[in-house]
Amino acid sequence: MGPSPRKRLPLWAVSAAASAAALLILGGVALSLASRPTVQTGPVTRSAGQVDIGGPFTLTDQTGATFTEADLQGRPSLIYFGYTFCPDVCPLSLQVMQRALERLPEDQRAQVRPVFISVDPERDTVERLAEYVDTPGFPPGLVGLTGTPEQVEEAKTEFRIFSARGEGEGDFYLVDHTSLIYLMDENGEFAAAFGHTESPETVAAAVADLTG
Ligand code: NI
Repeated sequence: MGPSPRKRLPLWAVSAAASAAALLILGGVALSLASRPTVQTGPVTRSAGQVDIGGPFTLTDQTGATFTEADLQGRPSLIYFGYTFCPDVCPLSLQVMQRALERLPEDQRAQVRPVFISVDPERDTVERLAEYVDTPGFPPGLVGLTGTPEQVEEAKTEFRIFSARGEGEGDFYLVDHTSLIYLMDENGEFAAAFGHTESPETVAAAVADLTG
């Protein structure tokens, strides 16, 4: 990708960097933006026709502490929405995140806040997230977030994440979900999105651009 991913990119630039699946999702973003009510709860800093990802949310981290959009301030973040029972795509995405981070010099890596947000709050308790974030191969310092179903829905909406219960019975079920690694800048604003098939080099370059 040629241009810097800093700040809000036009939709086409983001799509060029994303996987085919991500492209569909971001297409949906454009559509939902067009039909979205014009009520804004924060400062109006987003312009029409650009990707509007991120906004107010209240969740709980793996230590039981409250975590809101204010906690995304001050440092860039890499954010991924998924669920801890996910057999394949979520672990893969978190490993891509880590492989990208380990390419950076320590001082740059230390600036980045890696975040995993559950789309499966019924099963992803604080206790379960506490174990999950320590999985070998995941980014050290990974923040795991969950909440009430309503809080999770609120966060999903702000970040344009789709998820729905899939195959399975009882407590054993899959969850279909958007698989995008979001890079947010030090102001908590959207900078770039990557599919889970993105190369760690590409993700690292984008992160380096915000931390260099
Ligand atoms: Ni998954």
